[in-house]
Amino acid sequence: MKSVLITGASTGIGRACALRLDRLGHRVYAGVRTEQHAQQLREIASGRLVPLLLDVTDQAQIADVAARISADGDELAGLVNNAGIALGGPLEYLSLDIWRQQLDVNVIGQIAVTKAMLPLVRPTQGRVVFIGSISGKIATMLLGPYCASKFAIEAISEALRYELHPWGIHVCVVEPGAIRTAIWEKGRRYADRVEKDLPAEAREAYAAHLAVLRKTLDMQDRQAADPEKVAKAVEHALFSRRPKTRYVVGTDARIQSALVRGLPDKPREAIIRRIAGVRSA
Ligand SMILES: NC(=O)c1ccc[n+]([C@@H]2O[C@H](COP(=O)([O-])OP(=O)(O)OC[C@H]3O[C@@H](n4cnc5c(N)ncnc54)[C@H](OP(=O)(O)O)[C@@H]3O)[C@@H](O)[C@H]2O)c1
Repeated sequence: MKSVLITGASTGIGRACALRLDRLGHRVYAGVRTEQHAQQLREIASGRLVPLLLDVTDQAQIADVAARISADGDELAGLVNNAGIALGGPLEYLSLDIWRQQLDVNVIGQIAVTKAMLPLVRPTQGRVVFIGSISGKIATMLLGPYCASKFAIEAISEALRYELHPWGIHVCVVEPGAIRTAIWEKGRRYADRVEKDLPAEAREAYAAHLAVLRKTLDMQDRQAADPEKVAKAVEHALFSRRPKTRYVVGTDARIQSALVRGLPDKPREAIIRRIAGVRSA
């Protein structure tokens, strides 16, 4: 039995990872933000799974989680940095608070948790897995903050991989395309709020962009893959003898990844603009 900490395990990808690893017989420390989510996990998982309150922006909770795992006499064979939110809007009008919130959760939070858990990962020569996104390779209009956070995750995981190599600690990033989780409904509700809060002239100027965003959210939600696919990649990243540096998950992600590798910027962006249907003013 190996022990793994997963952040953001209340729903979606984090939950699928937690339940898969629990089914495989591992000890899962599952980070959640409410007692209600902790109880839900207790009800469906084995008695091995330990839900822990962990908001990745709360330094005291991060320290408590590290202390609790140590107090159990345990170490971590893996850390899965999964917690995340997706914020966006027209950059011209987006408040700096939105940027701070986005980067605080998706970037600083992952770094804070990783720093605190490394002393528990080091003795096992464990693994650190970041849940990035194909949005860390190819940006989407109106999702600037989210994409920036995922581009940052690519850089952080690469730098950390070099730094920890001497100790045999492998760091990798999982890059899913659209996955069927609560993030899409949250995204739609968030887009409603952003649109409502925009000044009238911005709503008018960005009407076509906003319509494309809604269409894209609906389409991706319909075509999204099962979170279990990501959980399978995470299992490989954590426990295979030959873990990869990157796991691209989903057909859409593989196509986008090939577009980035195979096409120069101008033709690629022209294709994306044409698909999105946004025309020059
Ligand atoms: N779904 C996709 O299509 C997709 C594609 C590529 C990458 N991803 C990435 O996959 C990860 C999981 O997303 P998901 O799709 O599974 O969405 P989700 O169902 O909304 O799950 C997000 C998780 O993050 C948690 N979270 C949010 N803010 C947090 C904070 N401050 N501290 C700790 N936990 C926090 C949420 O907890 P609460 O329930 O308490 O809010 C929830 O458990 C994210 O990093 C996301 O960017 C998703």
